Amino acid sequence: MPGYLITIEGIDGAGKTTQAALLGRYLTHAGYAVLATHEPGGTPLGDKLREIVLGQGLGPTTAAAELFLYLAARAEHVARVIRPALERGLVVLCDRFSDSTLVYQGCGRGLDFGLLTAADALATGGLRPDLTIILDLPVEEAQRRLAASGRAADRLEAEGAEFLQRLRLGYLALAREDKERRVLVEATGPAAAVFARVRNIVETFLREKAGLGDALTGPFRPRDC
Ligand code: TMP
Repeated sequence: MPGYLITIEGIDGAGKTTQAALLGRYLTHAGYAVLATHEPGGTPLGDKLREIVLGQGLGPTTAAAELFLYLAARAEHVARVIRPALERGLVVLCDRFSDSTLVYQGCGRGLDFGLLTAADALATGGLRPDLTIILDLPVEEAQRRLAASGRAADRLEAEGAEFLQRLRLGYLALAREDKERRVLVEATGPAAAVFARVRNIVETFLREKAGLGDALTGPFRPRDC
């Protein structure tokens, strides 16, 4: 496929959404056609499923049911939004993707990794990200950020520190397992400093892996956002 799928991952409170927005603006400014999207969501069904799976009204839910809600959203998202955009040559930036399922439903909920990988492949039709940025920070810092944001915790954010710690270890393990595709980024400190690291990784990817030229040397700075 001519486009590139770049995914951004991390525990709740790691700053993914901020970094994804900065990256989207940066790449657009640099002249790339960008589609910024997120999971669960990005389609009418995905948005409805997001409300259901993250809403506090859901009550106790089996891990398998939760998994299938995320995967149903992903199947729609890949088929109707991500693949068509990649086929048109866009850089697709996705806030969460398959690694969230491995970490949250695997490390968090205890589902079997082999089963998760197979089920996820069914949802994605085998589509894998070209680059995954994993934002890493200590759980205490993530919780401080979530508390400071002032908004009510969603169903998974409400799980607490021990759950978040398992997720963090899961992401660290994924990053160790595949250093080619997954890049770990230290996410402590101001958003602009974190973005400088993210930008560096994406520039390197687009230049080296994708063999692109010097389109990314424009005057854009994080403060422009
Ligand atoms: P977020 O959009 O604020 O990151 O919230 C999405 C939540 O859903 C977050 O807690 C992670 C969780 N999640 C899963 O458990 N599995 C998945 O496959 C995805 C995409 C998200």
